[in-house]
Amino acid sequence: MARRNVELIKRAGVDVDRLLDLLVRAASAEFTTYYYYTILRMNATGLEGEAIKEIIEDARIEDRNHFEALAIRIYELGGQLPNDIREFSNLAACSNAKLPDEPTVENLLKVLLDAERCAVGVYTEILEYVHGKDPRTYDIALAILHEEIEHESWFEELLTGKPSGHFRRRAPGESPYTSRFLKT
Ligand SMILES: [Fe+2]
Ligand SMILES: [Fe+2]
Repeated sequence: MARRNVELIKRAGVDVDRLLDLLVRAASAEFTTYYYYTILRMNATGLEGEAIKEIIEDARIEDRNHFEALAIRIYELGGQLPNDIREFSNLAACSNAKLPDEPTVENLLKVLLDAERCAVGVYTEILEYVHGKDPRTYDIALAILHEEIEHESWFEELLTGKPSGHFRRRAPGESPYTSRFLKT
């Protein structure tokens, strides 16, 4: 028997297979971004690199938190994560945030900004799809979108000097919006 929650969102017009596909692809993008941001953070070296290291770490841990929040919702909806991590990483909704050939601070920031811009698009699409139909997925995706918009504006500020209102998190990867969905 289908879960009541799944039954109701189907009745509201959500194609649950399509929604699960969007959520798994978003989760894959978060997981792979977490991995690639680890490499980018390691390569943020020297005096200039040190200045962006902590901010990369905030975005890195928060993207991992996004993966965690999405994973919970995927299983609640009766879906699952692929059992093969290679298959999973190939599903990513965004391209890989690979270390640039010349890892200058400017080039690192360009990769980071592109990744966050893609993420903003991913959650905007999910929100449009479930709006008025699936309040829980909407709430989770909205919390993630708040943080992706912040990440995007931080890296844009660092790259262009345009103010974004950024101030450091109280703890690394604090996730002020998404943390309430995490079990640990
Ligand atoms: Fe994210
Ligand atoms: Fe992000």
